[in-house]
Amino acid sequence: AVDIQSEITEILVTEEQILKRLDEIAAQVAVDYADKDLLLVGVLKGAIMVMADFSRALPTVAPIDWMAVSSYGASTKSSGVVQIRKDLDEDLHDRHVLIVEDIIDSGLTLSWLLENFASRGAASVEVFALLRKPDAAKVHVDCRYVGFDIANEFVVGYGLDYAEKYRNLRDVAILAPHVYS
Ligand code: PRP
Ligand code: MN
Ligand code: MG
Repeated sequence: AVDIQSEITEILVTEEQILKRLDEIAAQVAVDYADKDLLLVGVLKGAIMVMADFSRALPTVAPIDWMAVSSYGASTKSSGVVQIRKDLDEDLHDRHVLIVEDIIDSGLTLSWLLENFASRGAASVEVFALLRKPDAAKVHVDCRYVGFDIANEFVVGYGLDYAEKYRNLRDVAILAPHVYS
């Protein structure tokens, strides 16, 4: 088995920093949705860790649903084609939806999802992304809650993968170029 630490060059955001930021955002979300029933929608698979920790940081009752989409496959570049691998179980009609994502990179996945959700009659749809890469944006995404803006490097860990690996790293780290070049 390969040691994860030998495959990364730098830790960008530690688990401790993430958990602290999730507490701050959860407190803000609790205030913003004080008079609304929230439905959390996680985007599989990248959002698994952030959903687990963020949902537990919320002081309120919030059901969780999942949508599985993929645009990267086994590449460090987005294909630009978003594929649904699993649709939602919940009906979004009249619901207040908060999409929980690990990262906004080009923005293609979320802009596609927002358009898709808009047609399902939700009362509101907002986005929380743990990470965002402003320098990589190809399309603008209206994102209400952002954990951290980061540089345009290929990052893994805390749910984020390269070719399905490294999701189980606790921190967010920069993948060593020797892994993918
Ligand atoms: C990754 C990431 C986001 C998306 C962001 O998902 O988890 O969902 O790409 O990139 P974008 O802003 O350029 O669209 P991926 O397609 O790799 O699927 P995964 O979540 O299963 O890893
Ligand atoms: Mn994803
Ligand atoms: Mg991926």
